[in-house]
This record gives sequence, C-alpha cells and structure tokens, in this order.
Amino acid sequence: MGEQSNGVVVSLRNVSKAYGEGKTVQALRDVSLDIRRGERIAVMGPSGSGKSTLLNVVSGLDDPTSGKLEFEGTDLAKLSDDQRTRLRRERIGIIFQTFNLLPTLTALENVSLPLRLQNISRREAENRARTMLERVGLAGRATHRPDELSGGERQRIAIARALIFQPPILLGDEPTGNLDSKTGEEILMLLDDLHREFNTTVLLVTHNASAAEHCDRILHMKDGGLVREEQVGK
Ligand SMILES: Nc1ncnc2c1ncn2[C@@H]1O[C@H](COP(=O)(O)OP(=O)(O)O)[C@@H](O)[C@H]1O
Ligand SMILES: [Mg+2]
Repeated sequence: MGEQSNGVVVSLRNVSKAYGEGKTVQALRDVSLDIRRGERIAVMGPSGSGKSTLLNVVSGLDDPTSGKLEFEGTDLAKLSDDQRTRLRRERIGIIFQTFNLLPTLTALENVSLPLRLQNISRREAENRARTMLERVGLAGRATHRPDELSGGERQRIAIARALIFQPPILLGDEPTGNLDSKTGEEILMLLDDLHREFNTTVLLVTHNASAAEHCDRILHMKDGGLVREEQVGK
C-alpha cells in the first residue's frame, strides 16, 4: 500500500467510460488524475458533464471502458470481486445527495451495517457506531429511523456510516444538494473537522458556491473531460 502508492490514494490514467452499445454515450473522456492523501478536491461542471461517472469509477462501482485505475497502488482490474467489495467497504467512504440510508433501520443500525457485513460482532459494531454518531453530533438520535430525522441529520448519519472504517478517502456526490444553504454549510464544516481529525482525502461533486473555501483544488469538467484545474490559495 503506502510505499508503492507514494501518498497517492487514487490514480487515473487515460480513463474513459462509455455507456451503452452501438451508439454509445462517452461519459468520461481520457481523464488522468492523481488524488493524494489528505487532499480536498471539488469537482464542478454542468449537468451531464460526467461528474457522477467520475465518482462511480473512482469508487469501483463502475468499470472504466479503457485506461487504468489504481487504488493505493493496486490496479483495480486485477482484484477479484470479493477483494473489490471489501476494498469498497473498508477503504472508500461515499455519501450521496439523497443520503441512501436504509429506511427500516435506526441511525445506529445504519452506521453499524458496514461493520456487521464484515462479520464484526453486534456489540463491537454498535459501540463503534455510537462513537461515530457522537462524533457527528447525533448521539441523541441513535434509535431514530431516517424518516424521523431532518435532512441535515440524515446526512450526518450517512457521513458516520461512510467513515466507520476510517477510510483514506471520502467521496461525495452533491452531498449538500438536498439541503438548505445553512444546513449545507454545516455539513461542509463537519467534513472540514473530520478531514482535520482523520486526514481523510475528500473528493466532492458540488455546485456549492462556497466549496472553494472547503477544498484545495477545483476540477472543472465538461463533456466527460477535465477541462481546467484551479488551485485554491489559502
Ligand atoms: N447508466 C448510464 N447509462 C447510460 N448513460 C449514462 C448512464 N449514466 C450516465 N450516463 C450519461 O453519461 C453522461 C454523464 O453523466 P453523469 O456522470 O451522471 O453526469 P453529471 O453527474 O455531471 O450530471 C450523461 O450524458 C449521462 O446521460
Ligand atoms: Mg451527477
């Protein structure tokens, strides 16, 4: 891991992704990118420019059509399905605009779930989940189900679940898109705190105008390609 990857968590080399057969949609075009440990990157661009596809390829949810993707120095194409599942569960956190919590589970059960799927005992999983819930400020909501929580609270639960294994990278696909601006700002501030505490790399697709204040680099996408990169001066 570490030595081979030289501080690079994710590396894309000439990655393209086409959807469909025959008349295909070129969702990603020849994207090359190194994401280093602890970096915070915002991805911006118009609807349909390939932002979600980029995240799905980085998370291993979608396979590139061509090009090479390495995660901590390991070529993803060389992993078995089981190894990929495990890597995605333990090494990559992901949050979405729609939170994607399981509606019938409590907050505590949602946050414990990745640990339970990895055969960690219920007692230990719930202890760890409780610590994470405290960390995101929701210790008092452990027994609530998602429909009893506000949008901001749901996203905090999703963040706690995404970080339960303390993965080196957190991906977010418009995580503040369904929140009012004040709540969205609070979520970005929570991510700042967690980034400081765990040195988590953060890659966020966002339309949030204040995103620049929460990241080190902004990648601009258009028609599936990275068209411009901005370094954010601090
Ligand atoms: N599963 C899919 N099947 C076919 N086309 C897709 C699929 N997912 C995305 N696309 C197409 O790929 C392009 C990029 O989509 P997407 O990555 O979702 O863009 P963004 O997140 O920037 O709005 C769009 O033209 C979209 O219609
Ligand atoms: Mg999208």
